[in-house]
Amino acid sequence: MPKAAFHFPKGFLWGTATAAHQVEGDNANNNWWAWEQQEGRIVNGDKSGLACDWWGGRWKEDFDRAAEAGQNAHRLSVEWSRIQPAPDRWDEDALEHYRQMLRGLHERGMTPMVTLHHFTDPLWLGDPSTGSGCDPSTGSGGGWETEAVVPHFEKFTRKVVEALKETCSLWCTVNEPNIYALSGYAAGDFPPGKKDLRLAIRVQANMARGHAAAYRAIHAIQPEARVGYALHYRPMLAARPGFPLDRLERNIHFNAINMAFPTAIRTGVMRTPLGKVRTPEAKGTQDYLGLNYYSVDTVAFDLRNPGELFGRRFYSQGSDLSDTGFNANTPEGMFATIQWAVKFYHGLPLIITENGIECADDHIRPRYLAQHVHQVWRAVNFNWPVKGYFHWSLVDNFEWERGWSQRFGLWALDPSTQARRKRPSADLYAEICKENGLSSEMVQKYCPEVFEKLFPE
Ligand code: FCB
Repeated sequence: MPKAAFHFPKGFLWGTATAAHQVEGDNANNNWWAWEQQEGRIVNGDKSGLACDWWGGRWKEDFDRAAEAGQNAHRLSVEWSRIQPAPDRWDEDALEHYRQMLRGLHERGMTPMVTLHHFTDPLWLGDPSTGSGCDPSTGSGGGWETEAVVPHFEKFTRKVVEALKETCSLWCTVNEPNIYALSGYAAGDFPPGKKDLRLAIRVQANMARGHAAAYRAIHAIQPEARVGYALHYRPMLAARPGFPLDRLERNIHFNAINMAFPTAIRTGVMRTPLGKVRTPEAKGTQDYLGLNYYSVDTVAFDLRNPGELFGRRFYSQGSDLSDTGFNANTPEGMFATIQWAVKFYHGLPLIITENGIECADDHIRPRYLAQHVHQVWRAVNFNWPVKGYFHWSLVDNFEWERGWSQRFGLWALDPSTQARRKRPSADLYAEICKENGLSSEMVQKYCPEVFEKLFPE
């Protein structure tokens, strides 16, 4: 059998991505912790608890795993509520803890990427305009509902960047502002559990303003920094392409989910299905775009679904589904995602900041990984400026409203004992990282079922 390999450019970043609340444990001072205490919010009543116990020090063993597995980068987030436990108080020990973690990455030959906001808000941020704070018994507040959040986020950013600038220069301001806003303020399954599309749009606009303020603050402190945000991007197809109402719904959903933030950052005007919002300060505030890509959606017109603007999103019949049906293995969407970003943002460097699938017994992950890396390679071969790939995630972690029911890790975790177990995908990914590419032997060894697809005769 002929041997072949898809190689990547020298210096390509290979890593995994994590988020503070999902791995640290004991993050009791934020809105998610409060939300988890309420009945019915999280699948099976799960709680983040100790998570992966990174705050207790287990980041060391997990970083060892990542480094030994050839990863040369890691994306993590800092927890606002630890660093600024009250509006007028900074916790220098928490900053020192993060400094140690980032030094730990450097010592292991890994480039850190730091996210400043990954879904969680300090309890005190409840309503900064009135200073009323978030109600700790319900987790409901709404800190990003008003523009008053912007100077708070900027101040926090300055503090973090001043403290960590010797150890990091690749910054991600906000993770998935679209998902934060739509889940918390339209679908209602993130705190504060509201269902008001107008409010969701307002929240996203304030996040764009917060991002812009952070972008400028970071560059003022660290001119060489590279600053961007991570967009959750979902390619979408009309269920029946010949049916105009399906096409219409596909466009409404596509624009509602994908386009608000990117338009705000590119043009200074946020375009939404309910109209435009001016965010002039956000125009041009990015040095790269982070793309979180998981699956392609199919969209159909559905009269019975007024709550979602008469559309329904699903995975097409016969899809290669994850354990709970949360993800579908649709690798061509990775290429489409990058292609969209190249067209929309002409020449802007791109980083795949998340990509992965939940699968406890690892039967899908090897092929998902190989097929997605292959699509990234195709994009790189068009000379499109993709600079790195971060798999979600290193170790199983607390998956928000889905709790521990979804297993995204290259390593499995038993949260009750903190025991880790390597999944075969961890070995496949290690081979990819060490080779800086994907070879026919790797595919033959870990996922022969897609060999023909990746290496046709
Ligand atoms: C993304 C989130 C990340 C993780 C993955 C599975 O939407 O950014 O925290 O939960 O999904």
